[in-house]
Amino acid sequence: MRKRKDNPKVREQYRKWVYPKPVKDLDEWRKAGNFQLADPGRDFNLFWPDRDKRPLDILVAGCGTSQGAGQAYFNRDCQVTAIDISETSLRCTRDLKDRHGLTNLEILELSLFDVGALNRKFDFIVSTGVLHHLPDPVAGGQALADVLAPDGVMHLMLYGSTLRAGVYMLQEAFRAAGITQSDADVALTRQMCQHLPRHHAIQPFIAQSGDWKHDAGLVDIVLHPQDRAYSVPEIFGFADDIGLKFRGWLDRGAYAAASFLLPNFPGYERLIALPATEQATFIDNFFQMHKVHRFNLCHRSATGYEISFEADGWQHYTPFKIIGLRPEPPGAAAQRPNVWKRDRFTIALGPFDQALMEAIDGKRTVAQCIEQASAKSKHMPDDPVDVAHAFMSAMWERGHLYFRKG
Ligand SMILES: C[S@@+](CC[C@H](N)C(=O)[O-])C[C@H]1O[C@@H](n2cnc3c(N)ncnc32)[C@H](O)[C@@H]1O
Repeated sequence: MRKRKDNPKVREQYRKWVYPKPVKDLDEWRKAGNFQLADPGRDFNLFWPDRDKRPLDILVAGCGTSQGAGQAYFNRDCQVTAIDISETSLRCTRDLKDRHGLTNLEILELSLFDVGALNRKFDFIVSTGVLHHLPDPVAGGQALADVLAPDGVMHLMLYGSTLRAGVYMLQEAFRAAGITQSDADVALTRQMCQHLPRHHAIQPFIAQSGDWKHDAGLVDIVLHPQDRAYSVPEIFGFADDIGLKFRGWLDRGAYAAASFLLPNFPGYERLIALPATEQATFIDNFFQMHKVHRFNLCHRSATGYEISFEADGWQHYTPFKIIGLRPEPPGAAAQRPNVWKRDRFTIALGPFDQALMEAIDGKRTVAQCIEQASAKSKHMPDDPVDVAHAFMSAMWERGHLYFRKG
């Protein structure tokens, strides 16, 4: 029997320790170069490659301080419902609603277990950093799956297990020492952490964590009363347990062997030939770099969204650059021509690839990009279609481009 309830200590924590750090003004936040990672309005065809863009009903389950308002702010033509069990988080969300006049945002103090009572279905459900804090995450996932529209997409973020091993050691250490979430104990925790040995398993996590520096973040990491983390196979198992289908990682490149390994890597050919699921498991365990897993799910009956470069028709796809992909900025130590950056990736392109990349504008199909690149490039290859096939499929595999079908 599944447990459809919260741990009351979790509610207490998010009331007292305001987390994540609230965004005060979304205009300022945007101008500072921030963006939502999963934004179904901006990247509609990333989530629905086979559909025309349309206004969506969005549910933000466990919206925290700013995420519900963010979805409403960036997607004014969508109806956004933001739910949470923390009054403090909802107050921050209400402040942003008032500040930015977000008439498309409904804010409800509601547990995600009770979302069925709204009697609605949602096209896009986003729940990041929430389900792993439930006593029974699968029960929470099932409650959300029940309100997902037939062709809806659910975007989840769950903690990754490889980089968090040291977090659980510290949680256990502080529990054993009787450390609470009182102000005095949080200050004491911070002092203690200054004496962590350099070889402690949490060090690589701290190196990647901005949250570590502020108290609510520290509480969320090492004094949390309820959390668990997932390996890659456990993510696939989770999707299955809640009755949905794994549709893909938000950033497929972050799990692809081709993104990280050069051809001189031992066993390269073997690793590159593995199915995507095994490549993801290898990358996650070998490099230990995923603090969290971000992925999309859909109903098992959903079809038509698959992108393939094997079948005919890929030249009719329309390519889009993923957010964050940009030419290497001027002023970089040695600015190189035809070099692009995204996140941790550096992408060096051949001259015709560069012309293809420049032709991508979210309107031209692949075939039109080939025409445009052929007209512009001084380096015309003998086989432009083959070069474009290799380029488009490699950029897709590495998550730098996504495609609209048809
Ligand atoms: C780590 S925060 C993440 C907030 C937000 N999703 C984000 O990514 O910024 C977790 C949030 O989940 C909320 N939460 C926990 N259990 C919940 C439940 N059963 N229903 C709704 N919200 C819940 C907490 O109150 C807290 O605001």
